[in-house]
Amino acid sequence: MKNLLNGLKSSINRRSFMKNGLTAAGAATLGAGLVASSSPVLAHGGPEERSGHLTKGDAAILRFLAAAEILETDLWQQYNELGGIQDSEVPGGSGNATYTAALAVLDADMAQYIHDNTEDELTHEVFINAYLASKGADTVNLDEFRTLLSSQASGAQQIGRLTNLMQLTVDTSWWTRYRSSTKNPDFGDIFDQAVPSLNKGQHPAIPKTDDDLTPNDHIQAIANTAGFHFGTIEQGGTSLYPSLAQRVTHPEVLRIVLSIGPTEAMHFQTWSDKAGNAPALTDPKDSMLVFPDLNSSPLGGEEFQTNLIMPEPTVFLSRKLPACSIVRPTATDGAATGALKFLTAMGLFIGQSSAFFELLRDLAEDADEARRGER
Ligand SMILES: [Fe+2]
Ligand SMILES: [Fe+2]
Repeated sequence: MKNLLNGLKSSINRRSFMKNGLTAAGAATLGAGLVASSSPVLAHGGPEERSGHLTKGDAAILRFLAAAEILETDLWQQYNELGGIQDSEVPGGSGNATYTAALAVLDADMAQYIHDNTEDELTHEVFINAYLASKGADTVNLDEFRTLLSSQASGAQQIGRLTNLMQLTVDTSWWTRYRSSTKNPDFGDIFDQAVPSLNKGQHPAIPKTDDDLTPNDHIQAIANTAGFHFGTIEQGGTSLYPSLAQRVTHPEVLRIVLSIGPTEAMHFQTWSDKAGNAPALTDPKDSMLVFPDLNSSPLGGEEFQTNLIMPEPTVFLSRKLPACSIVRPTATDGAATGALKFLTAMGLFIGQSSAFFELLRDLAEDADEARRGER
């Protein structure tokens, strides 16, 4: 893993990956430096990327996953620089002692877990792109969209970012979704928020500047936000892989998806446990942001109790079948575009260009068109 971040910049196929089937409106928004290909535009919106020896659908699914992993790596790297362990495996920042201490209130080992999650995402990104390249398929490179500002707080590297962790709207409904014994999002069910105020407005999950390091309850609110955001991100990966696996064709591509996906679940399980340790408080700099005591009335019980960190068995496939302990959701229709909408809605891409959204949407739509068994 040594110097993987740097190695990534030189060893992976550096072809600037851009879809060409942009609409006229999309093409008009292309920023400087984005090169349109001269390939012919296909009727349904495309010149296709090269699939090499893979089926078109398998390549499209892997490319969407590569993009998702690049975005995950970018956000986890920001967390690691300020709140994780900086070493040769995950280099970059110099750490922020106050933020790290606030995260440690959730668990003394948070810095190690943040480091390890970051390293995992980096290997997912590098592996999937390298596999695509090994099959002669086009890879994904989002480097030209590394334009967002870094945190100005002590410890963060000053480089362009793909993702924004300072204006998040965090959907915390996974908390009650995995604790429900009667509901499943694949049946259209909806779920209460664990922290309703995190799902409204915009909240930093990392200190924006050193002004955010005080008072104590303010930096703790930021660390609590991160604690829930970790779970929100990783439950997304936990669902995305099984959702897309259902449309993979080649057994080896299926093996990749089935081998990476459960590591997202391992991350989610960890964060699901740690978020429950976020201390109840009101942010002194934002009185609208309230972290409730999830074990107290009117909360508590099966849907909120913090030690219920394993999935509650619930309805699966049919309400006539017995309850089953499962990942949820796993419906495959529109899974990639759904994941992109979910990431966008949380504010993760605030500040990104329309060309960025156009590219991500295109990658997601191509992945969603994949069909199992296609040639
Ligand atoms: Fe990942
Ligand atoms: Fe992940």
